Amino acid sequence: FQPKVLVGRKVLITAGPTYEAIDPVRGITNRSSGKMGFAVARAAAEAGAEVTLVAGPVHLPTPLGVRRIDVQSAREMLDAVLPLAASHHAFVATAAVADWRPAQTHEHKIKKNAKAGEAVAPGLELAENPDILATVAALPHPPMCVGFAAESQDLIKHAREKRQRKNVPLIVANVGPATFGQDDNALTLVDARGERELSRADKLTLARELVREIAQRLTTYNA
Ligand code: C5P
Repeated sequence: FQPKVLVGRKVLITAGPTYEAIDPVRGITNRSSGKMGFAVARAAAEAGAEVTLVAGPVHLPTPLGVRRIDVQSAREMLDAVLPLAASHHAFVATAAVADWRPAQTHEHKIKKNAKAGEAVAPGLELAENPDILATVAALPHPPMCVGFAAESQDLIKHAREKRQRKNVPLIVANVGPATFGQDDNALTLVDARGERELSRADKLTLARELVREIAQRLTTYNA
């Protein structure tokens, strides 16, 4: 049972990886199943919120009552998020956005043009992607922003730095590659006062706890 703590609230969520095309058949991406973000979307909808979920390429069904916008690249994700951000009360960035994209996308498949063993790999020039969370947090009247941090080491230290750098009130730290695609997770909430650990549980249970935390914070949030 999920108490209706978000009735009358609009929540915007990003989830999944982004995919940055090199050519029509190749690309670079991040590892992310989207499960955590979809669980947050489901929990927020259960709590009575009007939920918009901007999803990168994932294989997951849309949670009941959630409006879903599918995107591929980081720039498409930003273009979907930006016009919606100011009209939402909370923005939860769970997406594993690719930090870089190929500087150019080739219209046709790049050919190897050589006998086996003699192909010369084409160099790949990269351009930096926009930081969606930091861009939303820098809006004149931003929604209450919640970021996620996945690291392979020094998790809490990096989460604290990330919170300050992106200027968001709350970062949810989750342990790195071990949790990718798994159904359960361990989360630590990092805010200006310190840290609070949520005990290991399945992603939906943790998402419901996070939703209660967001509802609580929204009662005193003024952008
Ligand atoms: O900088 P890093 O990727 O470690 O930060 C993770 C947090 O920032 C997540 O909440 C992620 O969704 C968000 N992010 C973003 N746009 C990016 C990179 C990260 O919204 N380009």
